[in-house]
Amino acid sequence: MINIAIDGPSGAGKGVVSDKLAKLLNLYHLDTGAIYRAIGLYCYDNGINGFSEEEVLKVLDKINIKIEFVNNVQYTYLNDECVNHRIRSSIASDYSSRSSALKCVRDKVRELQQDFAKNNNVVMEGRDITTEILPHTKYKFYLDASPEVRANRRLQDLLEKGENVTFEQVLNDINERDYRDTHREFGKLQLTKDAFYINTDNYNIDEVVAIIYSKINERV
Ligand code: DC
Repeated sequence: MINIAIDGPSGAGKGVVSDKLAKLLNLYHLDTGAIYRAIGLYCYDNGINGFSEEEVLKVLDKINIKIEFVNNVQYTYLNDECVNHRIRSSIASDYSSRSSALKCVRDKVRELQQDFAKNNNVVMEGRDITTEILPHTKYKFYLDASPEVRANRRLQDLLEKGENVTFEQVLNDINERDYRDTHREFGKLQLTKDAFYINTDNYNIDEVVAIIYSKINERV
């Protein structure tokens, strides 16, 4: 199987880049953040404290996540409800960033991701894909961008969706989530020596895809 691992902070462009790369190479693109977002949404919907391992552990078996692909588009199901739209809200961002720090949540999601990679050619993007989920793949990338550039990208997305937010709010939110993503005990975001680092501040999507594509060819 061909497994390409891409990690990086939120808003670095992992999603769009992985999408284009996957199409170019005819692979699936698995957005693992969608799984954590769906779990976060369950916690929000059911009044579960997403910071509490004890509370989340009690309901973990009731959270059934399924991923389907139709025409290469990922559909994420939370207990049979397609949550593709709902997981993009600021609430889902916040709750996913809380519950994704919990060991019980990461253990559950790890299994799903590794099963998928075992059976499919995939570009998988997230936070711990290069380090914990696909540690043995030779195709590892870390996409980065400055917090300001990422906040601007996120702001445009949210405004298009009709959310009423300011640049400062989005930047604060990004800084807070970066801190949580890089300081938690389990599955934290980190750049390792064997991952190829790309700062996307001054590149467009196609340029980033071209860089990754050429690195993959070098490593074949
Ligand atoms: O990539 P994203 O913004 O959709 O991710 C949502 C949250 O899930 C984010 O706070 C980090 C977390 N996450 C994670 O811990 N591990 C992953 N592999 C993917 C996402």
